[in-house]
Amino acid sequence: MQVAIDGPAGAGKSTVAKLVAKQLGAKYIDTGAMYRAVGWLVSTNHVDVKDEEQVLRLAESLRFSFTDSGIQVNGFQLTNEIRTEQISAFASAIAKIGGVREVLVEKQRQLAGLESVVMDGRDVGTHVLPNANIKIFLTASVEKRVERRFKELKRKGEQPSLETLKQEIMDRDHNDKNRQFAPLCKAEDAILLDTTELTMDQVVDQILQLCRTKL
Ligand code: C5P
Repeated sequence: MQVAIDGPAGAGKSTVAKLVAKQLGAKYIDTGAMYRAVGWLVSTNHVDVKDEEQVLRLAESLRFSFTDSGIQVNGFQLTNEIRTEQISAFASAIAKIGGVREVLVEKQRQLAGLESVVMDGRDVGTHVLPNANIKIFLTASVEKRVERRFKELKRKGEQPSLETLKQEIMDRDHNDKNRQFAPLCKAEDAILLDTTELTMDQVVDQILQLCRTKL
């Protein structure tokens, strides 16, 4: 069973996908965390993000797995260090590199081949798992997405500025929608869910209801 959940930054994908996976007894695969992990390694190894060959070699060398606590890279658990705004920007920049996308998409397909998955990202329904049983495209207004990111970062003890966050989310939207390889867009057969006025529990309930009718 494959459930694909795509959408822009801050639409609530990871919260929702995690809960849906738990209810369905499936593995949650956070593809954004894979791009972030490469971004984090690029940053900690002082690799130039524009050096596509070196970034690609780094991406190829990584082994990814997912547990209830999140992503592991070469057996090493990554958590808050890949969630900073700096790493968001790095991830967004390396996600434009076609070769890196190919490598990560291949690894995502391999993970989905092993067991039932709920996978979230930008290109899961359109590109990674085009035959997924259920495809959801989650969106929300920019204001709402900024508000959610703001609260999330505050909870982690950061002091984000609303204006900067809005600019960063708009920049990432622009990068994701306009890149050459697998840009962010709704798959034709995906169901559009606008979460601006919904709680995360309501969104999860709607998706589970869909799963019950379609699976
Ligand atoms: O989902 P998240 O915000 O953690 O993703 C980080 C970045 O990775 C995104 O801004 C996007 O540029 C990139 N990404 C992608 N394709 C995916 C998942 C994430 O390009 N399937």
